[in-house]
Amino acid sequence: MTIKEVQDKIIRLKKEKDICILAHSYEAREILEVADFTGDSYALSKMAASAGNSTVLMCGVRFMAETVKILSPHKKVILSSPVAGCPMAEQFDVETVRALKQEHPDYLVVAYINTTAALKTVCDVCVTSASAVKIVRQLDADNILFIPDCNLGSFVAKQVPEKHIMLVQGGCPVHSAVTAEEAAKARELHPQAELLVHPECIPQVSALADYVGSTSGIMEYAMQSPKKEFIIGTENSIAEHLQYLCPDKTFYTMTTGMICRDMKATTLVDVLRCCEGTGGEVIELDDEAITQARKCIDAMIALGG
Ligand code: 13P
Ligand code: SF4
Repeated sequence: MTIKEVQDKIIRLKKEKDICILAHSYEAREILEVADFTGDSYALSKMAASAGNSTVLMCGVRFMAETVKILSPHKKVILSSPVAGCPMAEQFDVETVRALKQEHPDYLVVAYINTTAALKTVCDVCVTSASAVKIVRQLDADNILFIPDCNLGSFVAKQVPEKHIMLVQGGCPVHSAVTAEEAAKARELHPQAELLVHPECIPQVSALADYVGSTSGIMEYAMQSPKKEFIIGTENSIAEHLQYLCPDKTFYTMTTGMICRDMKATTLVDVLRCCEGTGGEVIELDDEAITQARKCIDAMIALGG
């Protein structure tokens, strides 16, 4: 079968079986083409709440499928590839967060949405990279414990200096691996280009950027900018997607190593198998976990996140 034939089959099956396909922007182009909604974690978490279909297929990583299940417990939610986790989401466990809360009872615990459902049950409010600054600014608390990404946390702390934000060591292995030297080298190679960086990168890399923002923020910035050349400081697929979207502009990757193997775990054939009912993993969460974790996500939504 050609890629087009597989895509046609997926499109036919998803209609027949009332499946909504959500795909994170880091997925491959041929998967984005068959999705009903694409976007960053923020956009997908909003879509998850509003999709009317009986089944949602999440092409992304496990915490994203769990978020859909928490928001729509009566729907069948399928994760496109059972091996697609997010290493950052699993860096903390419930006991560690409980211990931190005991040590710092006057702190509100803010969890990046890149956390497991279990972890969300012991946190106060979720944020995405697109909504973190806005939400933290509005919180009715001066002391904040931000988990698990100390790089995003440090970015938020700079934007919201009026709050005391405690950071713990954790982060995305893909974004945080890039060094300031590599970022500077990319600038040297492409002196006309603007550097657009995700806040999951280390502060020394963000400091060299012309713009720091979420995946959708980076994409919107590049699409709207009158500039012609950009170095993309997030998962390399974004440079590729932008190149298709803006053929009159030129996009470079910041390093060749910014590839999330979990986001790339899903193939187009995996998507087909999920639609046929033979692939993926149906997400199951117990009712208590859903109720508790939902409070954390609802708190984000209530604050406009
Ligand atoms: P956003 O989708 O919030 O930009 O986050 C990037 C990411 O690493 C997703 O796992
Ligand atoms: Fe997790 Fe980083 Fe991959 Fe996003 S890019 S899924 S944060 S490992």
